[in-house]
Amino acid sequence: MTVKKITVKASGTYDVIIGRGLIDLCGSYVKDVTKAVKLGIITDDNVNAIYGDRAAASLEKEGFSVCRYVFPHGEASKNSETLVKIWNFLCENHFTRTDCLIALGGGVTGDMTGFAAASYLRGIDFVQIPTSLLAQVDSSVGGKTGIDLPGGKNLVGAFKQPKLVLADMDTLDTLTDEFFIDGMGEVVKYGMIKSASLFVKLGTYTAEELRKNKEALTDIIAECVSIKRDVVEADECEKGERMLLNFGHTLGHSIEQYYNYTGISHGMAVAKGMEMITSLAEKRGMCAPGLTGRLSECLEKYHLKIDVKPLPCELGEACMNDKKRSGGNINIIICSKAGVSSAVKMTVEEFTEFLKQD
Ligand code: GLY
Repeated sequence: MTVKKITVKASGTYDVIIGRGLIDLCGSYVKDVTKAVKLGIITDDNVNAIYGDRAAASLEKEGFSVCRYVFPHGEASKNSETLVKIWNFLCENHFTRTDCLIALGGGVTGDMTGFAAASYLRGIDFVQIPTSLLAQVDSSVGGKTGIDLPGGKNLVGAFKQPKLVLADMDTLDTLTDEFFIDGMGEVVKYGMIKSASLFVKLGTYTAEELRKNKEALTDIIAECVSIKRDVVEADECEKGERMLLNFGHTLGHSIEQYYNYTGISHGMAVAKGMEMITSLAEKRGMCAPGLTGRLSECLEKYHLKIDVKPLPCELGEACMNDKKRSGGNINIIICSKAGVSSAVKMTVEEFTEFLKQD
């Protein structure tokens, strides 16, 4: 299998490398992008148990002095308390501005490490080594970093591009089915917002078939990263085009909040959010007839077609804390057909009305 390289040219230029066996080769890739003496691997206990020693060995082989900070896995760790512990760890280990962090893990690790890198000494370099599907197709690329507050997810953060992203396909082997499906929610999103051909391709597999087919999965991950690259290059700081990546997320976040972030994954909530918003748009003649049915069929194949308790009109209140709000308006992403999306600006009153079903 060949290694794929996608170059992102944003406020920093960096490569996203997608291939197999990259954990054991990470040292030489990292050597190419930093003059750091010291590297800090930031990872969670689950990922550390599987990949921590292998990544450290590869980095040490290249002459880096490597130390490691391990935190308990899960979204509950992505907070100011853990961030302060990371800052203190870097201080105790005398990290300087020319040293570098390595985010080894999923979205929580990548987001929090990125923010530690953006803030420690007013900014040091970091490398993303995403080990979940969601992190490989979405969160490790594009420079969104941050932590959660009790009042909501990702409410504090910064845009900070990594120096390199190494997506090792072999790490997907150790994902549970639940985490694989979680990532597929974002994959379907890319097809819906930007690529009709990707959307059609996704419909030709089931979750089980795609998991087994590394070649096809690599191509699909690379396609998602290319789409994200184009969007981020056009609008790094989410003033316009980048909002399209939030398709399904406004209602999705409200669904996650409704369930107190337990029992429903981010990918599942986003999938339901995409389905709800498309169904509402279809009823109002804002998208091609039958699009909701096509989306539902695709989601079904990836076990992402789920029932949730709240009706769309019951989710409006939670959407009002959405980061994508500006003043009295909210930007809602609507797909007019598969592969074509746009942001529709609505007032709070219009959005409340929009969420009412016939
Ligand atoms: N995950 C959405 C974005 O990076 O903009």
